[in-house]
Amino acid sequence: MPGTPARDTLSAMSDPTTALEFTPAVEAATAAIRERLKDVIPDVEWAIHAPLIARINELKQERNATLVVHNYQTPEIFHGVADYTGDSLGMARYGADTDADVIVVCGVRFMAETAKILSPDKTVLLPDMEAGCSLAASITGEDVRRLREQYPGVPVVAYVNTYADVRAEVDICCTSANAVQVVESLNADRVIFLPDRYLGRYVETQTDVELINWDGACEVHERFTADELRGYRADFPGIEVIAHPECPPDVLEEADFVGSTSGMIRYVGERRPEKVVMITECSMSDNVAVEYPDVDFVRPCNLCPHMKRISLPKILRSLETLSPEVELDPELGRRARRSLDRMLAIGRGPGQG
Ligand code: 13P
Ligand code: SF4
Repeated sequence: MPGTPARDTLSAMSDPTTALEFTPAVEAATAAIRERLKDVIPDVEWAIHAPLIARINELKQERNATLVVHNYQTPEIFHGVADYTGDSLGMARYGADTDADVIVVCGVRFMAETAKILSPDKTVLLPDMEAGCSLAASITGEDVRRLREQYPGVPVVAYVNTYADVRAEVDICCTSANAVQVVESLNADRVIFLPDRYLGRYVETQTDVELINWDGACEVHERFTADELRGYRADFPGIEVIAHPECPPDVLEEADFVGSTSGMIRYVGERRPEKVVMITECSMSDNVAVEYPDVDFVRPCNLCPHMKRISLPKILRSLETLSPEVELDPELGRRARRSLDRMLAIGRGPGQG
């Protein structure tokens, strides 16, 4: 039948992973990564991941591409194919400095927009364009213009978990690693802080500046409760509890340390607690446990469905096809860049890795 071969060819092209097998050559090329991941990935899964990892790592060279990976990505991505791993601030800094022609962002769309704003002439790929964020979805540029009318003259800080239309309207961006420093850098008595009400409330506990908070929240961190944390302390005496500032205030009050994802990782690396629980997205404990086998991690599992849209097959497809590509109107990108550049001129907060 004349149509059949054409259909087969088309489906093979649209699924570049079909021809990949776990050969001895693949096994040898990925042996060092396998060794690192042996406690978090079972053999049956590894046989699927290894050929993808080997091919992605080859293709990165061919495309002069760099993979920027957030701490919430799964271990086979985080330890298997990343050129850089870190929090939103680290990813932004790395994306601004890299010499690569292609940046593949393994994270969510606001992170990919940050890379495109800072590197407008590079090809920025996000392996799944549907990778959103409940915080970024909670506010628009129009909302910011209305806030400015309501509070004339009050400066506006946007968490980077926002899209370019919002960043184009604000004075400065921040991440969870530098929110307090950014708010204080404005030398104002009152500041509009958006969109995360919990991060805003946490910042208020660290500064005398009065904040006008937007009402957004992270769908992953808002689910943690103070009772749950007290339960960990009761069940695991001596456990250290460390939390991300997107959690509600009563949760943060129960924590021994509050910090960005990289700040939490640094805390574990420096203090080497006997037992720890990271009150944040699920995959981070798996990634950090690989680095610190001497630390016992209690692992609650709140998954971010947006972060989990990124997978090895989608990363491979992205590199094969150089899509989906993040596109931004250049003028919007230029306007959004000012608030990011102002943030990048400010360092991390103390203890934020
Ligand atoms: P970090 O900047 O701390 O990595 O946080 C990003 C994020 O999305 C947390 O939910
Ligand atoms: Fe957004 Fe929360 Fe997911 Fe981070 S964890 S990307 S803040 S929904």
